[in-house]
Amino acid sequence: MDKMTKIDIITRPEKAEDLKEALNQIGITGMTFSHVLGCGLQKGKSEYYRGSQYKIDLLPKIKIEVVVCEVPVDLVVSTATQVLRTGEVGDGKIFVYATQDVVKVRTGEQGVKAL
Ligand SMILES: Nc1ncnc2c1ncn2[C@@H]1O[C@H](COP(=O)(O)OP(=O)(O)OP(=O)(O)O)[C@@H](O)[C@H]1O
Ligand SMILES: [Mg+2]
Repeated sequence: MDKMTKIDIITRPEKAEDLKEALNQIGITGMTFSHVLGCGLQKGKSEYYRGSQYKIDLLPKIKIEVVVCEVPVDLVVSTATQVLRTGEVGDGKIFVYATQDVVKVRTGEQGVKAL
């Protein structure tokens, strides 16, 4: 069976639209966006969000989840990195996981056919 990989990208809310566009450009059509709260290395220190400096631990972030098979994982990671990097703290993180299975509910198809 073809390998499927899940990629979670945590980013700044203001970057979400640009990232969606960039992922569409490399052939990704299905993705899930969630509003989340998160903290990284600078926990407890301040980070800018929409021009304001936040001193709280948890900042608003967007999490994008995508499962890919044909589109190379390296391409997803390099595209996201390129779009999201500002060089400032809080640029986000990318997590990569092996995916065991996918089921498309409407048809009952499984695995790569379900993507
Ligand atoms: N180890 C982790 N496990 C799960 N989620 C994490 C982890 N580290 C960071 N995150 C998530 O990623 C978001 C972005 O983190 P952030 O960009 O601040 O990472 P960082 O490692 O602190 O890097 P930077 O130095 O650029 O700030 C966090 O708000 C959180 O939602
Ligand atoms: Mg951080």
